[in-house]
Amino acid sequence: MRLLSGTAGIQEAAALLRAGRLVAFGTETVYGLGGDATNGQTVASIFAAKGRPQFNPLICHFPTAEAAFGHVVPTPAAERLAAAFWPGPLTLVLPRRAGSPIDLLAGAGLDTLAVRVPGHPPARALLEAAGLPIAAPSANRSGAVSPTTAAHVVADLDGRIDAVLDCGPAAVGLESTVLDLTGPRPVLLRPGGISAEAIAALIGPVGRGVTPADAEAARGLRSPGLLVSHYAPVLPVRLNATTVAENEALLAFGPALPGAAVTWALSKTGDLTEAAARLFAGLRWLDQAGARMGAVRIAAMPVPEDGLGAAINDRLRRAAATRP
Ligand code: TXA
Ligand code: MG
Repeated sequence: MRLLSGTAGIQEAAALLRAGRLVAFGTETVYGLGGDATNGQTVASIFAAKGRPQFNPLICHFPTAEAAFGHVVPTPAAERLAAAFWPGPLTLVLPRRAGSPIDLLAGAGLDTLAVRVPGHPPARALLEAAGLPIAAPSANRSGAVSPTTAAHVVADLDGRIDAVLDCGPAAVGLESTVLDLTGPRPVLLRPGGISAEAIAALIGPVGRGVTPADAEAARGLRSPGLLVSHYAPVLPVRLNATTVAENEALLAFGPALPGAAVTWALSKTGDLTEAAARLFAGLRWLDQAGARMGAVRIAAMPVPEDGLGAAINDRLRRAAATRP
């Protein structure tokens, strides 16, 4: 896999995308595994590279709201949200426009499409230069922790994709919020970079739902009521740790508990934005450093549920869930 960077790298990455190749690139949320969403063969190769079930639909990325709304029919709420939060970490699920050239497999055959305008300038420059809707799931093997640096992508996907465009570390560090606007009322399918409170402040009450990805993973669970395992590190995860053993790797929030084999500070000052940005890198690091130091599991200290905390806790609960 080629490692690209800078302005020349953006142009080269865009040319590869136009040629139907797979290029990972950094957004403000996580790195995405990008491909031409209008090319069926390319879309199929995205699923293959990730090892992802084909019925799990992909998000299509655009440089502007105008470009996105060329492929979906926006509601008034969608227009308000786009004006407030795009470019940024929000994905909107809307009815697909008749005649959109986006391949049906990208939307897993649904009559809806998930669209997003990412906020990171290099990502927008790439999307602009490519001039195509770019389907991009997180650039990790299916079920693993999402990548927040180019090095994470290399570790997961080397040999399986054509290139990675190094766009620096992801500033938000958690995937986008996914909001379904196709029903009678808005439904939050995945908590993420934009909080449910911020969305509700703009468009009123928001219900709770599950993404097709969650529904699919839930089918693999042995008993109902268990949480969906996803974003999974190798070591098992213990939640809400208020003490830590010497054979545990500590994921600390605020002042760290003493006595762990190794410690990763999400945020020493208890800052949720900093914690979100450091979460996935921390899980990867604790997996490696923890195993080297003889740790048998990751102990995660509690994180408050407000704002970005809801999305952090969502990912931690999935990381801790019993694996099918
Ligand atoms: O921040 C992000 O959203 C990153 C970056 C790369 O943009 N992408 C990302 O993609 O997290 P992925 O594929 O890992 O997650 C997409 C989520 C899945 O849970 C999928 O089920 C849901 O969005 N989704 C996609 N299309 C949908 C649709 N038409 N209806 C409902 N949910 C959809
Ligand atoms: Mg993902």
